[in-house]
Amino acid sequence: SAQEASNGDGRRRPLGRRVLVFPLPFQGHINPMLQLADVLHSRGLAITVLHTRFNALDPALHPQFTFVAVPDGIPADVAASGSVISIILAMNAAMEEPGPVRDALASVLGEKGKPTAACLFIDANLLAVQKAATALGLPTMVLRSASAACFSCFLAYPMLHQNGYLPPKESQLYTPVKELPPLRVRDLFFSSSSNHEMMRKVLARATEAAMNSKALVINTFDALEPAELDRIRRELDGAVVLAVGPLHKLSTRSTGSSLLREDRSCIEWLDTQPTGSVLLYVSFGSLASMDAAELLEVAWGLANSGQPFLWVVRRDLVRGSDGSELPEGFGLAVEGRSKVIQWAPQQEVLAHPSVGGFWTHNGWNSTLESISEGLPMICRPQFADQMMNTRYVEAAWGVGFELEGELKRNKIEEAVRKLMKDAKGVVARERAQELKKKVESCLESGGSSLLAIDKLIGQILSL
Ligand code: UDX
Repeated sequence: SAQEASNGDGRRRPLGRRVLVFPLPFQGHINPMLQLADVLHSRGLAITVLHTRFNALDPALHPQFTFVAVPDGIPADVAASGSVISIILAMNAAMEEPGPVRDALASVLGEKGKPTAACLFIDANLLAVQKAATALGLPTMVLRSASAACFSCFLAYPMLHQNGYLPPKESQLYTPVKELPPLRVRDLFFSSSSNHEMMRKVLARATEAAMNSKALVINTFDALEPAELDRIRRELDGAVVLAVGPLHKLSTRSTGSSLLREDRSCIEWLDTQPTGSVLLYVSFGSLASMDAAELLEVAWGLANSGQPFLWVVRRDLVRGSDGSELPEGFGLAVEGRSKVIQWAPQQEVLAHPSVGGFWTHNGWNSTLESISEGLPMICRPQFADQMMNTRYVEAAWGVGFELEGELKRNKIEEAVRKLMKDAKGVVARERAQELKKKVESCLESGGSSLLAIDKLIGQILSL
């Protein structure tokens, strides 16, 4: 039973049930899905991961799971464009139509009327996969890899139009959205998108997928977003809405879900740095980018701050360029107190005792990972839910501040000093440490996220 499965000393009895998971093939979506899979596996469930050729996963890194490759139907030019929205639409289109992609999917999901698994976890963006599963009699659950605030914003999309907040007008960007505090018009998910029709479609599909699922599982925790979770529960009256995060803290092993090779030499280097939270970690996630002039400003801003730092410069960080070249003289200027790498074992870096602050783009995973280690943030959001995450960091939780406007070296230098040295940074760090305690309590025995996982397993076993 679910009870037997969740009690005990970690050596759980196999429950004899299988769960399928199908992540959206992007780093920020793959990580939480595989973390959830790992949690379910540690509770006795067998896991099969469906994955695409685009951003394919490496089965060798996950011997505990079974892997099945599904053709993704993403045309080469769309894959090369890297556009998340276009790829989501292409995957859905390929899976909606009868044809080889849907046949392959159907053969994985099971024969008609004879599902081979208890359920399938999908990313809310893959509505077509849900429809295929439903047609085959396989129940689905949805994992949301962004915040509860973000999903509650999706649900509010028609209201935001009706009440005149959208499409956003230049003069109203700082107008508070009084129905969704503390958000302002510029913080809304869709405010930066120019293609409202496409956005409407993507959001409506995500909402439909959540409504048709047996449970909506969100990578957040009750104490972090109580009002937002309440709002979702009210809107989706009767639905099972479970806050199970932060999933990276619940998953028992490093899930090896990184698409890029992690440069582990940075951990040894961090070990040589003074402990006591003096070092700034700088990373903009897997998708955010900048132009060459901005890269230059960031480099000199960091150098001029005088603060030690670890900076992730992805090969594709600079738009339209093949590698991301640092300016001449930079290496010498920061020698001994800085390291630049192409990809980090980020969760380990954030947990390192020498690290004291995070300059982030505020992807939801990075935001949660920062909060989990009690680290204050400099926020530089770019798109999608990142603006709204920044707003929550600043106005709801008080654990950081936004670096707004054009990227200029003197503003960067000032922001780094503010975070790492000034009173404002000290207050943000204290608040972040308080939030870290809340993270710890939701993960303790009887804590809200553990109870939500128990409930989820009960739900899976009842299917
Ligand atoms: C995207 C969106 O931007 C984000 O807003 C949305 O909520 C999820 O999908 P991404 O931009 O990559 O994700 O950011 P984020 O959500 O922060 O995820 C990045 C993940 O990559 C994190 O789990 C982080 O730990 C990991 N990472 C990042 C590394 O392992 N190494 C790095 O050097 C940088």
